[in-house]
Amino acid sequence: MISKGLKNVVAAETAISLVDGEKGRLIYRGYNAKELALQYSFEEIAYLIWYGFLPNDHEKQMISESLKNNRELPSYVYQLIQTLPCDMEIMSQIRTVVSALGTKEFGWKPTVEQAIRLTAVIPVITAAIYRKVNGEKIILPNRELGHVENYLYMLTGKRHSFALIRALEGYMILTMEHGMNASTFTSRVVSSTESDMVSAVTGAIGAMKGPLHGGAPTGVIDMLNEISNKEDAEIWIRQKLERKENLMGFGHRVYRTRDPRAEALSEITKQIGADDEWLELAYYVEKLAVQLLEEYKPGRRINTNVEFYAAAVMKAIDMSPSLFTPTFTVSRMVGWTAHVIEQSLDNTIFRPEAKYIGKQTVELQSLV
Ligand code: CMC
Repeated sequence: MISKGLKNVVAAETAISLVDGEKGRLIYRGYNAKELALQYSFEEIAYLIWYGFLPNDHEKQMISESLKNNRELPSYVYQLIQTLPCDMEIMSQIRTVVSALGTKEFGWKPTVEQAIRLTAVIPVITAAIYRKVNGEKIILPNRELGHVENYLYMLTGKRHSFALIRALEGYMILTMEHGMNASTFTSRVVSSTESDMVSAVTGAIGAMKGPLHGGAPTGVIDMLNEISNKEDAEIWIRQKLERKENLMGFGHRVYRTRDPRAEALSEITKQIGADDEWLELAYYVEKLAVQLLEEYKPGRRINTNVEFYAAAVMKAIDMSPSLFTPTFTVSRMVGWTAHVIEQSLDNTIFRPEAKYIGKQTVELQSLV
């Protein structure tokens, strides 16, 4: 029997996270991700994901310092960033630049030190590419600032309010890790050949780039902009569903309830007092779309996913839509690298079968 898209196929064991689709729970190393996102820093949860336990004060200090100490990029990387054309998609530029990090420091076997290095540089690379594309001077990392605040600072050159930093931090914790999604699976497949961690995350970035995975929040903003008011929502959604097109920000391979990350993000959005009018439309469209999806796709239990409210958070912090998928990438680096390490601890190369449906043996015509 073929399982297209490997639906329901268990391809590995993991102790990193549990995505409980029936109950709508996301658990990181035994802890509820929603509670972690509301109470802890990015650095603390990255530590939890890599090491399996929450850091004490000393370990917290250690991980924060390590991430700061690893932010520096070699000059050839900045030169490469300047060389890439500005009209190349930001995600493609990030993929290319990350792949250029493949030096000896990333040899097999993968380590937490390598994971820290990649997690520390990915915001620096992303911010540098973004500023270059927009014709602005690249801003170097600021040692005074934590991981998330420094990312925002390198993007904008400005300091932000605590509430906005915490909102982005909440989003970045909630998107740090998510079981065997397409990009994480990609990273494990590459790593299973005993290739290096840089190759594994380069492949993962390629998978993340696709609109069915990491590219959805831009689609959510486009959708709400097109709908623009409550009166036009129903007709717009019906037309979309009649054309058998998917609504961005809805549906998930695993969740059969509202995605718990959407739940947490909708709470965070309320706390920061995001654009009320836009949020009100978002709540309205969410409710209506879930009803209409039940009408058009009975029994499928399609609900909002993380990208729906990610769009709201990004809008609140005034982040350009061109940065949505790159920012998802900046946070997911933690999950990818943790999976690459886990894969290496009990490795079997991934090598599934394909059912051949082509022609059977065809006789070659003699040329003489
Ligand atoms: N809008 C309309 N119909 C949908 C949607 C949607 N967003 N999602 C699923 N369906 C329908 C689908 O057409 C199918 O109908 P039928 O059985 O009649 O052919 C049924 O529901 C089952 O869907 P599926 O395509 O088998 O579901 P999947 O697990 O293969 O796809 C998905 C999951 C996320 C790719 C899909 O729901 C989708 O394309 N959503 C929109 C894009 C999006 O929001 N992506 C972000 C995902 S969350 C981020 C992450 O964790 O990666």
